[in-house]
Amino acid sequence: MAYNLLKGKKGIIFGALDEKSIAWKTALRCVEEGAEIVLTNAPIAMRLGEINRLAELCNAPVIPADVTSMDDLENLFSKTLEHFGGGVDFILHSVGMSMNLRKGNPYTDTNYDLMHKSLDISAMSLHRVLQTAMKMDAINEWGSVVALSYIAAQRVFPDYNDMADAKSMLESITRNFGYQYAVKKHVRVNTISQSPTRTTAGSGVKGFEGFIKFAEKQSPLGNASADQCADYTVTLFSDLTKMVTMQNLFHDGGFSFTGISHAVIDQMEM
Ligand code: NAI
Repeated sequence: MAYNLLKGKKGIIFGALDEKSIAWKTALRCVEEGAEIVLTNAPIAMRLGEINRLAELCNAPVIPADVTSMDDLENLFSKTLEHFGGGVDFILHSVGMSMNLRKGNPYTDTNYDLMHKSLDISAMSLHRVLQTAMKMDAINEWGSVVALSYIAAQRVFPDYNDMADAKSMLESITRNFGYQYAVKKHVRVNTISQSPTRTTAGSGVKGFEGFIKFAEKQSPLGNASADQCADYTVTLFSDLTKMVTMQNLFHDGGFSFTGISHAVIDQMEM
């Protein structure tokens, strides 16, 4: 059901790879709520993925950008400003990648070049996006930026590898840049800490199936789906959440505040 929550708003969606992607679902929901969007992803991912199909569904242009390239980001914002004839009201940063994780390098035997890349792609990129937007004055007054995080930023999930450090940094940038952008232009910046979700990035984590099943049993409401994450993101892009900023918002069915659930105890007693 649509509520026209984003009527007249314009935004950029980073990170739609295929129809499992959280960004894919969010793009569709934003358009359903009345927004106009620009889609972007890394040039290589655009060749592998199906973003053109999404672009047709959303009637949106696709502008490639590697989030680690300042030139690409400047090009993305200048083309977006041109396309909309002005700034944007929201941005979704739904980008993450760890080659250490993909290669199965243990956390205690990391490859530092790859760790550097993980931090750049998954965390510093939010700073790059916000700094570029601020310099180009590309986000309108009371705009809203959402990035996606995971609870491994606060607690140990041993196989989440260097992505745990990246998510801590992402949440820190959210607070620090969120302060600056609020003061400068009332732009709000938040992270949503999402339940484990079956996507390309999610399934790259070692033991992911065990992990997602445990989270399902540990969460009083069960795991939050990608579609539900898209719904929550729409509320953060809407005018109904104007005073929410610099927060890490758990969207996890209660997982983060549950010590242990009866479902997990029952399992242990079997
Ligand atoms: P996904 O694999 O569909 O999306 C990740 C996206 O990052 C892809 O579209 C990929 O092309 C893009 N990307 C990677 N390197 C890039 C680069 N250099 N430049 C531009 N884009 C680049 O997976 P998913 O799960 O939708 O991931 C979206 C976000 O949600 C990520 O930040 C992820 O860490 C986060 N998240 C995912 C959870 C899960 O269990 N799937 C749980 C909590 C957070």
